[in-house]
Amino acid sequence: MALTFDGLAEVAMARDLLRRWWGLELGLTDAKGGGYDRTSHATCESVRGVAGAACAKELSDLAAHFSKSKDRVAVSRNCHAGMSIVAAPVMGLHGVVGLVFATGGHDTDATAMEQGLIKTIGSTADEARALATAAPVVPDADLPKIRDIVTAAAAAVERALPAEIPPTAFSHPFSEMVGDAPAVRDVVKLLAKVVKSEATVLVHGESGTGKELIARAIHYHGSRAKKPFVVQNCSAFNDNLLESALFGHVRGAFTGAVKDQPGLFQVADGGTFFLDEIGDMSAALQVKLLRVLQEGTFTPVGGTKPVKVDVRIIAASHKDLAAMVQHKQFREDLFYRVNVLKITVPPLRERVSDIPRLAAHFVTKHWRGPTPPPRLSQSALARLVAYQWPGNIRELENEMERMLVLAGDATELTASMVSSRLAGMVAAPPKTLRDAIATSEADALVAALGRHLGERDGAAADLGISRSYLDARCAALGLGTGG
Ligand SMILES: Nc1ncnc2c1ncn2[C@@H]1O[C@H](COP(=O)(O)OP(=O)(O)OP(=O)(O)O)[C@@H](O)[C@H]1O
Ligand SMILES: [Mg+2]
Repeated sequence: MALTFDGLAEVAMARDLLRRWWGLELGLTDAKGGGYDRTSHATCESVRGVAGAACAKELSDLAAHFSKSKDRVAVSRNCHAGMSIVAAPVMGLHGVVGLVFATGGHDTDATAMEQGLIKTIGSTADEARALATAAPVVPDADLPKIRDIVTAAAAAVERALPAEIPPTAFSHPFSEMVGDAPAVRDVVKLLAKVVKSEATVLVHGESGTGKELIARAIHYHGSRAKKPFVVQNCSAFNDNLLESALFGHVRGAFTGAVKDQPGLFQVADGGTFFLDEIGDMSAALQVKLLRVLQEGTFTPVGGTKPVKVDVRIIAASHKDLAAMVQHKQFREDLFYRVNVLKITVPPLRERVSDIPRLAAHFVTKHWRGPTPPPRLSQSALARLVAYQWPGNIRELENEMERMLVLAGDATELTASMVSSRLAGMVAAPPKTLRDAIATSEADALVAALGRHLGERDGAAADLGISRSYLDARCAALGLGTGG
């Protein structure tokens, strides 16, 4: 990606200040510290040749320094020829993408420059003195100010970087599903098998992770694609209404039932029925659903004759149905009927690498203008990537729509258009392996103790460890000594 100073008002201002006050010139390198215009400054021009090569080494060392360190403000060094270089990094999503640097002068003592020129370029003493005398002076006391200016210029270049949207290296027939992260690849591989079968599918995932998108993909890529795809959310209705919506009713079944009304199961006949939030279904309706799954029949509300249908069921839940079975909130027999093939959709925070691609996808999806959609800037993307996304892909989609509205006819989506809400909740710092192990060990201990109501011998037996080891681990992890 080529970096540029073009059109950046802050850079123009920085360049002007550096020229007028110190006679320095501002330059821009690529990620490795190379690729800059070596003749950009009069002093450098007069010592170029061998000097150019050596200066390149200085800048590439600086680029290496910034990629290893956490320094984001400018640092100053002397170059091979004794001249001052002040450089700041331009950071992309994955590290240093370039350097902004100021050079062309030397510190108040010109002898270092003279010696540098004699040593590295082989200038005569007279030539070296003439060059050093002609070069502007950069007093040490001014360096902090110069560093600030260079840092600000680098930040301006950074803000204007177009976001890098990596092309996907993973092609699959489910083109509606954007994503390349390992967790998504696993889901897609499973989908390829699921569409070939007729089995009932349970899609489990947090809200907004794409459960319905997956259910649609299963239907439209499978043999029932030309038949109806029907959706019903099981938590949106009261029980009577839901029952009548699912199974229909006969005339006179209740006040207002003036004629026979077919239920959604009949509408879905031959096709697929997506039962969203199946965990919210009442016990009574769970029985009726079980019968559909076992026998393919149901009885409309108020009716006596069973109706037969051929419907593939895809159920979704953000709740853990297995845990609900344990707590007697969900029928075990129904659970086994529904949980034939299970697809677990990962939350967005477990596929962070897909955020750039998804963000770009939603910009295109929701752009309505006659011109090409606005570009996503690197700085805006950095904010999107740092956020935790509790509302997952749906929340990201809403955010991108909101940014497009704010952008109006601007050609770029900038960091200032990102909701301030996102800045307050950034991803937790990376955990060390030791922390991660301690956390999952503590989780396992707490879960086992919970199952045994704090009774430690039973918990230890569950975990396959001795009672004394369990006591020792609880103490080490600060879980109390029990009783
Ligand atoms: N992998 C993806 N690629 C592109 N768009 C996606 C992807 N996953 C989800 N979406 C989009 O995100 C939005 C939310 O997805 P969906 O409605 O399928 O999620 P959900 O899990 O059913 O959410 P909820 O629990 O809130 O009902 C939809 O507009 C969907 O098209
Ligand atoms: Mg949904």
